[in-house]
Amino acid sequence: MKIVFLSASGQLGGAERLLLDLISALREYRPSWDLVVVSAREGPFLERAMEVGARTIAVPFPGALARVGDSGGAVAGLVRGGMAVLGSLGYALKLRAVLRGIDPDVIHSNGYKMDVLGAWSRTGGMPLLWHLHDFTSTRPLMAGVLRAYRSSCALAVANSPAVAKDARNALGGEFPIEVVLNGVDLNVFAPDGERVDLDALAGIAKRSGDVVRVGLVATMGRFKGHEVFLRAIAAVDDARVMAYVVGGPIYDTRGSEVVLERLHALVRELGIEGRVGFTGFVGDIASAIRSLDVVVHATTQPEPFGLVIAEAMACGKPVIVSAAGGAAEIIAPGVDALAFEPGDVEGLAVGIRTLVGDADLRARMGAAGRTSALAKFDSRRIGREFAVLYERIAARRRR
Ligand code: GLC
Repeated sequence: MKIVFLSASGQLGGAERLLLDLISALREYRPSWDLVVVSAREGPFLERAMEVGARTIAVPFPGALARVGDSGGAVAGLVRGGMAVLGSLGYALKLRAVLRGIDPDVIHSNGYKMDVLGAWSRTGGMPLLWHLHDFTSTRPLMAGVLRAYRSSCALAVANSPAVAKDARNALGGEFPIEVVLNGVDLNVFAPDGERVDLDALAGIAKRSGDVVRVGLVATMGRFKGHEVFLRAIAAVDDARVMAYVVGGPIYDTRGSEVVLERLHALVRELGIEGRVGFTGFVGDIASAIRSLDVVVHATTQPEPFGLVIAEAMACGKPVIVSAAGGAAEIIAPGVDALAFEPGDVEGLAVGIRTLVGDADLRARMGAAGRTSALAKFDSRRIGREFAVLYERIAARRRR
């Protein structure tokens, strides 16, 4: 079996990290399979793909196409969409030649840009699997495009039941959609292991004594809730709390990230200087999570899945979750996590206060999180589940 994975990003966002775990799991479960990663960008994703045992090929996007996102207003979306179409046509031709050379049994596209480009580039009846990581309803333009090309896709796989339900609305009830719930590497994301010095990373003076470290671990995506987090920290107003924003800019899609200077300004405005550290991008996320006492997930919109939630649980850390979308489906509030409504600053502050004031609760909730992760989020499971799906759609081609 030969599988080609298509990635538009060369960075390590959630969808790319999940794909790397899937490739590792497949390597172990089906060692003889030929796994080829085609990425539109050079970068850490492609390097890691090689490390986990895939063959890698960079087929670079032209600059304009790389910067085009699919979120944002309708008019801007149409303009950008038009640009994307032009840039994409040439790219699709290039990609088709590459695919013809590889001649895969299955094409696995990871993310909307590649879902569409995969539909345009596939040739000779190569079965295409769309791996859906996000809600199509928040991207009406993209939903329309996917609907237009759905006949090119043999199967869509959603990372959560919430994403599958949403995709059913966009693609039509009869469209084949399966759910393969995300997983994490439970050996990497484990309670024991290396830690980092968050203060040193953030370039701030080391705090000693009674400190409870609370961190938002996220990309700088606009919907990750950085502002909600900082406002909640100000509302908690507890001298024991040190807050960390763990993450840095990784996307070059125009306007999709929060601007760091604005967050610094907000920290000053809220009068919480000295209580917040910005670590920047951390490659070894597990070690950063282990260095925290409380992990916060604060997306202001429903989260399709929320890898960091599963990662925090797997590390045995209590996590406070903005509970909507797929994120709400993977936690048992009060048992292995605390929940609040997206955007609810006071709700998050209540959660932080509760955990900061109760070390036993932190320990109990962390242990319950590890138990849940062992039961639900083992990334080896995603390897097995995808293997079955690949075999199913590849068999259809051979018939
Ligand atoms: C996307 C989603 C996120 C999910 C990740 C991996 O980044 O927004 O919720 O965890 O993909 O599937």
